This record gives sequence, C-alpha cells and structure tokens, in this order.
Amino acid sequence: MELLVSDVSKRFEGVAAVSGVSLACNAGEIVGLIGPNGAGKTTLLNMISSLLTVDTGSITLDGRPVHNIGPRRTAIAGIARTFQNIRLFSNLTVRQNIEVAFTTARQHRASALGALTIERLMDQLGITNFSGRKASELAYGTQRRVEIARALALAPNFLLLDEPTAGMVEGESQELVGAIMSIREWMGCGVIVIDHDLSFITSVCERVYVLDMGQLVAAGPPTVLRDDPKVAEIYLGRKARQRSETTAGQTPRQTQSR
Ligand SMILES: Nc1ncnc2c1ncn2[C@@H]1O[C@H](COP(=O)(O)OP(=O)(O)OP(=O)(O)O)[C@@H](O)[C@H]1O
Ligand SMILES: [Mg+2]
Repeated sequence: MELLVSDVSKRFEGVAAVSGVSLACNAGEIVGLIGPNGAGKTTLLNMISSLLTVDTGSITLDGRPVHNIGPRRTAIAGIARTFQNIRLFSNLTVRQNIEVAFTTARQHRASALGALTIERLMDQLGITNFSGRKASELAYGTQRRVEIARALALAPNFLLLDEPTAGMVEGESQELVGAIMSIREWMGCGVIVIDHDLSFITSVCERVYVLDMGQLVAAGPPTVLRDDPKVAEIYLGRKARQRSETTAGQTPRQTQSR
C-alpha cells in the first residue's frame, strides 16, 4: 500500500504554509518530516488526515483520493494520527481512550484488525500499568504513548505522529524508537513522523523529508541531514544570521535609523 502526497499546497490568508509539496510513504516504511518552527509540517499532516482541506494537489491511498474527505472517513480509510498538542479524552482511563478507537475499528476496519488487541497495544507501548488511570493524571511522555496506542487501535495502514518525543524525558524517546520499530514489524503499517529531535529521527527513519517555509528543500536517507548543504543552511545558517542580526541591532547606526 502506498500513501502519496502530490504537489499539495495550503495558504492561510497571507501565509503560504505549504507550497507544492510531494512525498510518498509505503507500507512498512518509517519516514521523517523535519524542519524549523513554522515550516509547514503540522499543516501537511493536517491535510493528510483531512483535518484541513488542500487548496491544490492530491493525496491518495493506493491511487484512491483521500484528501478533503474529513477526519472520520480518513481514519476509516486507514490513516490514524497523534497531535502536537495531545488530544486525549482527559476524563477517560487509558483503556477507555484506546477502546473508543478500537470500537470504531471493529465496526469499520474489521478485516484489518488481525490479532490486534487492546492488551497487546498497551504492552507494546509500555502503558499496561496505567490501564485504569485517568489520562489527565499521567505524565506528559506517558500521555504521548497512550495517544499512539489509541491511534494504532484503529488498525491503520498509515500512522502519522506529530512530535511524539515532545515532553519526553531522556531515555523515553530511545524507548519509543524501539516501540515504533516493533509496531512496524507487527502491524506492517507505514509511519510518517515529525520531530525536532534529530537523533530520534535518524534512529527511527529510513527516509527523511526536510521542509522550510512551506517548501520541500531536501529528501533522502537520514544522511541528508548531515551532508546536504541546504539542510545545514536551514539549521545552522539561520542561527548564524539571527546572531548577526542581534549584533547589528545593537550598533549606533541601527539605533539612529529607527
Ligand atoms: N490555522 C492557521 N491559521 C493561520 N495560519 C496558520 C494556521 N496554521 C498554521 N499557520 C501558519 O502556517 C505556517 C506553518 O505552520 P505549521 O504549524 O504547519 O508549522 P510546523 O512546521 O508544524 O511548526 P512547529 O515546528 O512549530 O510545530 C506558520 O507560519 C503558521 O503560523
Ligand atoms: Mg507543528
């Protein structure tokens, strides 16, 4: 199965949030999406999950268009996601949160369920001990793992993760690498993951796409992060420019011209 994003764009009034971006993810592949703040990563994921409509371009699952069909139909088509700002049902327990998605899967994705059980999901994500606890009582990193388990309870063909390591403490993100790898082995789903932790991205992804100011600037194996001069410019050049602008802002000439 293939998830194909073709020449997709999205504007918010004056802002070109995503401009003509194309990417592909195959079943069983783990693909990274990186770039500085405001690069358009979440907007792209929001279009893939149909939380946002695309202005132009198309998104297909094995050739079948899945853009602009709404989040529920996208989930039923086999695309599940987590959110940059966690969106669990805070008053439900961990198990109940997962059950909500599992019920939808039983109704609409029965053929994809296979040997999937809530117990196995909780075990894979290391959250069995929290099963009866309310989501709101859990540490941030644990909530992120619950959200991943809930997304996987839809038995998706593709899993979209928006900054899964945000709020995780040292060590937790390395454990997440192992969990994502074994989930891929077990369920065979493709994964698109956004994260700012480049060592996490390098450990978990086979391929990486780099966005900057809404545009795709590089793509390839994780070594592009090290070897592609455009990527270095984005991550290092910008910092250098910011430093020199700060210095320039302190010169007498700048002060006079204001
Ligand atoms: N709903 C919205 N209305 C207006 N502008 C938006 C909206 N959502 C995103 N934007 C703008 O679109 C651009 C891309 O934002 P987006 O959230 O996709 O970036 P991002 O790469 O996910 O950044 P971050 O790493 O900070 O999460 C930004 O300039 C942002 O301000
Ligand atoms: Mg984002």
